Amino acid sequence: MALGCVILAAGEGKRMKSALAKPLHRVCGRSMMDHVLAYVAPLQPDVTAVVLGVGREMMEQALAGRDVRLAVQREQLGTGHAVMAAAELFADFDGDLIVTCADIPLVRPETLQALLDEHRTRQAAATVMTAVYDDPTGYGRIVRDERGLVQAIVEHKDAPPEVRALKEINAGIYCFNARRLFEVLAELRPDNAQGEYYLTDVIGRFVAAGEPVAALVAEDPEEVMGINDRVQLAQAEAKARQRVREALMRGGVTMIDPGATYVDAGVEIGQDTVLWPGTVITGETKIGANCTIGPQVQLNDVAMGDGCQIRQGSWLAASALGNGVSIGPFAFVRADCCVEDEARVGAHSEIVRATIGRKVRMSHFSYAGDTNIGAGSNIGAGVVTCNYDGRAKHRTEIGDGAFIGSDAILVAPVTIGAGAYVAAGSVVTQDVPPDGLGIERAEQRNIEGWATRRRGQRQEEDHA
Ligand code: UD1
Ligand code: CA
Repeated sequence: MALGCVILAAGEGKRMKSALAKPLHRVCGRSMMDHVLAYVAPLQPDVTAVVLGVGREMMEQALAGRDVRLAVQREQLGTGHAVMAAAELFADFDGDLIVTCADIPLVRPETLQALLDEHRTRQAAATVMTAVYDDPTGYGRIVRDERGLVQAIVEHKDAPPEVRALKEINAGIYCFNARRLFEVLAELRPDNAQGEYYLTDVIGRFVAAGEPVAALVAEDPEEVMGINDRVQLAQAEAKARQRVREALMRGGVTMIDPGATYVDAGVEIGQDTVLWPGTVITGETKIGANCTIGPQVQLNDVAMGDGCQIRQGSWLAASALGNGVSIGPFAFVRADCCVEDEARVGAHSEIVRATIGRKVRMSHFSYAGDTNIGAGSNIGAGVVTCNYDGRAKHRTEIGDGAFIGSDAILVAPVTIGAGAYVAAGSVVTQDVPPDGLGIERAEQRNIEGWATRRRGQRQEEDHA
C-alpha cells in the first residue's frame, strides 16, 4: 500500500511571538522541522509534502535540497484548509496518508509506525493519535461514545465545560485513507469559534458516514506534545536533551551531572568518555572514546579522536583533533584548526586556521593564527604569530622539531625552518633557516653595583 505524508507548517505561530517561522525554532540544536522530517523518514513514504505559508521564504531555504514536495497555503484558514493546499500533489495518489504538524517535534519513529500499523490493522478511514494529559488546556478533545469509540474531536475554544473536562486530547498526528480524506475535506465549513477549516472536523464526518475511525493512545504523552509558545519549547528542549543524554549514557558515556550537561541531538560520543558539568556540545560534533571533557567546556562542530583531554573553560569550534590531544585549561580553538595526535595546546592559548603537528608542545598562553607548526616543535610561553597587518592575513610556517623561545613574536609571512631555534623575546621578521638560530634583541649589559648605589640614593632622599 502506498504511503504519503503531509506536514503542516504554514501557520502563523502567533503564540511564539517571533520573527522566525515556528518550525525553524530549535529543539536540542535542530529545527522542529528537521525533527519532524527525521521521524517521518524511517517510514519511507513515497511522497512527503510540506505545506508552507507564513515565513515561506525562510522555510524554503531551510528545506532546500531535501527530498520533499512543497505546497503553498496562501491564506491561513485552518489545518483542514492547509491539508487541502497539498491536494494537488496527491491527485493520483491512492494509499494511506500520514498528517502531522511541524510543531510536534518529539515523536519517535516507532510511535508513528504504530499509528500506521493500527490504521492498517483496523482498516480505518482515519486513525488519530491521542494522549491523556492532566492539563489538556488548548488541545482538541477526543469525544468517545459509551462503547469507547471515537465520535468527534472538539477544539478547546469550541468545547462546552463537560468536553473541556475530558483529558484525552488530539495529538495532531493522523493517518487517513488519502482519497476519502480529500473528499471529506472539500465538504468542511468554517462554522466554529475560530472561523477556520478544522482538519479535526473530518473525524466527526467520517463517523456520521459510518466509516471506521480508530485511535491510538500515546504511551508517553509528552512525546506528542505540540509547541505553541516558548514555555512549551523549553519543555520540549528539556525532554529532548534528557533523551539524548540517556542514549549516550546507555552507550557508555559517563556524565558526572547529566542535568548540567548539554548535548545536541546527533552528537556522537565514544565509550568511557567522561563529561564534567557545564559542558555544552553542539552541532556536528563527534568525540572518540576515553576522552575527558570539562568542566565548563564548549564544543561546536568538532571532530576528536580517542583519549583527548579538554580541560576546564575551553572553547573549540569547527576543528579536528587527533588522538591523545590535550587542550586547555582556558584555551580557545577558534576555527579551521587541525591538532594532530598527542599535541598540546595549553592554558590561555588561542589558535585559528592552524595546524598543530604531532606532539607539539604549546603549553602556555600563545597565539597561533594562519600557522602550520611541524611535528614535535616546542612553542614557548607567550609566543605570538602576527598574522594580520591591518589589511590582510599572512601565514607562519614552522618546520618539524623547531624550538620557539618564550615571548617570541613571529611577524608573518615568515618561515622557521625544521630544527631551528628562535631566541626568547625575539621579534622575527625574516625567515630562519633549518637548524639555525634566529635571534633579534639587544645584547644584555650588566652594571655592577647599580642596585646598591640606588638604595643609597633613596636613603639620602628619605632623611632629607
Ligand atoms: C491543533 C489541532 C488540535 C490539536 C493540536 C495538537 C486543529 C483545528 N486543531 O491545534 O486539535 O490538539 O493541534 O498539537 O487542527 N497550520 C497551517 N495552516 C493553518 C493553520 C495551521 O499550516 O491555516 C499548521 C501550523 O503551522 C501547525 C499546525 O498546522 O504546524 C497546527 O496548527 P496550530 O495553530 O498550532 O493548531 P493548534 O491550535 O495547536
Ligand atoms: Ca499546535
